Amino acid sequence: MSCPITIDLPTSKAFEPESRFQANTYYVSLNSLLLWTRGERPPDWNAHFGRSASREVEIGFGNGEALVRRAVLEPEVDFIGLELSWNSLKRALRRISKKSVTNVRLMQADAHTAFDRLIKPRSLDRIRSWFPAPWPKDRHERRRLFSRDFLRLVNSRLKDRGFLQIVTDHKPYMDWVMDQTAETGLAASWHCTRAQYDTKYERKWRAEGKDVFYEARLIKEKHIDVPLGKDTPLFTYRLDGFNPKEFVARDLCGLPTIKFKDFIFDPQQERGLLLALVAEDRFRQDVWLEIKRDGLEWVVGLAPGNQILPTDGVKIAIDQTRRDAAATCE
Ligand SMILES: C[S@@+](CC[C@H](N)C(=O)[O-])C[C@H]1O[C@@H](n2cnc3c(N)ncnc32)[C@H](O)[C@@H]1O
Repeated sequence: MSCPITIDLPTSKAFEPESRFQANTYYVSLNSLLLWTRGERPPDWNAHFGRSASREVEIGFGNGEALVRRAVLEPEVDFIGLELSWNSLKRALRRISKKSVTNVRLMQADAHTAFDRLIKPRSLDRIRSWFPAPWPKDRHERRRLFSRDFLRLVNSRLKDRGFLQIVTDHKPYMDWVMDQTAETGLAASWHCTRAQYDTKYERKWRAEGKDVFYEARLIKEKHIDVPLGKDTPLFTYRLDGFNPKEFVARDLCGLPTIKFKDFIFDPQQERGLLLALVAEDRFRQDVWLEIKRDGLEWVVGLAPGNQILPTDGVKIAIDQTRRDAAATCE
């Protein structure tokens, strides 16, 4: 990345409220949304639900209709929904508001990250995933969720005899999942089934003429210990000097991949902000780093106000920034 970069400020029109935002987001209760990058990790789920109850996770709940339907039918169960798509979360939040259910919490999170960091071992009774993305191309195999590693994590988060249910329209995906189950401590079986869950994707596949689906049940038989993932400690560094005009932030390729996207510098405050995309395995974050004068020295670290998960990748981004900042005065 070359330096300095000028930023294009958005025109004032970009800040005008758009009516479609109001129409879509009106009457959404936010009570069930958990902003998990803030607050304690893992969350105290009993405190969030206000009780200790049987607990179930749905991975990739889409528009949330099955999740909310079940929450209405089973008020004695607490449901945690994980979804990547923000638009899906908004739809589910509206459904939750309309039905006034109180036993659902939603997180916008990748399931792998959530199971690693946000759910304690031996704490779940059931996990469901209806019509997960099969990623059918061989070259996309890494993107498939229910890998052996993930199934071992699933095992560790389930209580004894708890189970994972997966329903798919895609037989090769079911075969692939079954191949992943060795050494996961899960007893796996599958069978053909008919449409019965009435989710958006089940209806979609039926509309395309599919009437046989594949359902797997993976029951926990032997515990596998996978400890909770921990936050990586992040440090700030002090430098004797820094020359913003010479600053070049160098990207890193591999795992993690770090791409520096922007650098802005305020000469009056003697403070620079650097935007980095940090991509680690299944997880990507936009991270703001800061280089600012403090007396005779310069301080390099995470900018205040970030809402990120402190990971090894973020630490490496800070370390790299420190090296590149120091290089401006060599
Ligand atoms: C094919 S859709 C199925 C949605 C819903 N279950 C249904 O049957 O209509 C798969 C959903 O899983 C979500 N998803 C994919 N990968 C995920 C992950 N790693 N963690 C959480 N959600 C994920 C996607 O955003 C998408 O909404």
